Amino acid sequence: MIATTMSDTATVNSAARPQGKDRAAKKRDPMVWVIKPAVWVLCLAPLAWLGWLVVETIYFGGRGLSANPVEFINRYLGDWALRFLLISLAVTPVRILTGWKQVVRVRRLLGLFAFFYVVLHVANYVGLDQFFNWEAIWEDVIKRWYITVGMAALLCLIPLAVTSTKGWIKRIGGKNWNRLHKLVYVSGAAACLHFFMMRKGLQYEPLVYAAIFAGLMLVRAVEPLKRRFSA
Ligand code: HEM
Repeated sequence: MIATTMSDTATVNSAARPQGKDRAAKKRDPMVWVIKPAVWVLCLAPLAWLGWLVVETIYFGGRGLSANPVEFINRYLGDWALRFLLISLAVTPVRILTGWKQVVRVRRLLGLFAFFYVVLHVANYVGLDQFFNWEAIWEDVIKRWYITVGMAALLCLIPLAVTSTKGWIKRIGGKNWNRLHKLVYVSGAAACLHFFMMRKGLQYEPLVYAAIFAGLMLVRAVEPLKRRFSA
C-alpha cells in the first residue's frame, strides 16, 4: 500500500518474483520461506504482547495495563500504528541506500500491518473509550484538533489498503496506482502531527517520530535529484 516508483513495481512483478514455471526456484526463495514469515511474526508480536498483558491483568492480577487500561491500550496501539507506518515508509529508503531490491517485496505487508494497527487503535477508541457513542465521537472529531488530524491520517490510508491488491493495480493502472499511493506521505505527516498535538507542549517522543519521517522523505527526495545530476 505504500507509494512506489514504476521501477519498484517492475522489480516486484518480474525479476524479484519467480514466474509460474519456476516453482522450484520459488521454493528456494528465502523471501517466501524466511523473510516474509519473519515479518509476520515480528508484526504480530506487539499484538501478542498486548494480548498477554490483558490476560495477565484479568487472570493474574497483573498491572501491566497501568491504572488506566483503556488509555494504555489506545496509546500502545497508536504507537505501533505509527511505528509500522514509518517502517513501511522506510522500505524505499532502505532500497535506495543499500541497493537491496528484494526488500520492496515486504512493503505491502508492512503497509497493511500499519493499517491493521490503525484500525485496532481507532476501534479501541470507538468501542472501549467512547462506547460507540457516535455523537460524542463526532464532537471529538470536529472539536479536538488532534482527533481531526488523526481522522485525516486514517482517511488517507483507507483507499491505499483497499487498492493494495494486484487486481487493483491492474484495474487502475500502475501510474494511477502510484499517484494514489502517494497519499501515504500525507497520512504519515498527519499521523506525526496527530501525535505531536495529542501530547501537548514540546515533548521529545513526537519530535523523534517526526524527525524519522522527515529523514525518510529526504532520502526519497534526494534520489531523483542525484540521478538527474549524475546523468
Ligand atoms: C494513521 C492514523 C493514526 C495513527 C498512526 C495514530 C497514532 C497515535 C499515536 C502515536 C498516539 C499517541 C500515543 C502515545 O501517547 O504514546 C495517538 C493517540 C490517540 N489517538 Fe491516534 N492515530 C491515528 C488515528 C487516530 C484516529 C482516527 C483517532 C480517532 C478517531 C485517534 C484517536 C486517538 C486518541 C483519542 C489518542 C489519545 C489517547 C489518550 O489521550 O490517551 N487516532 N494516536
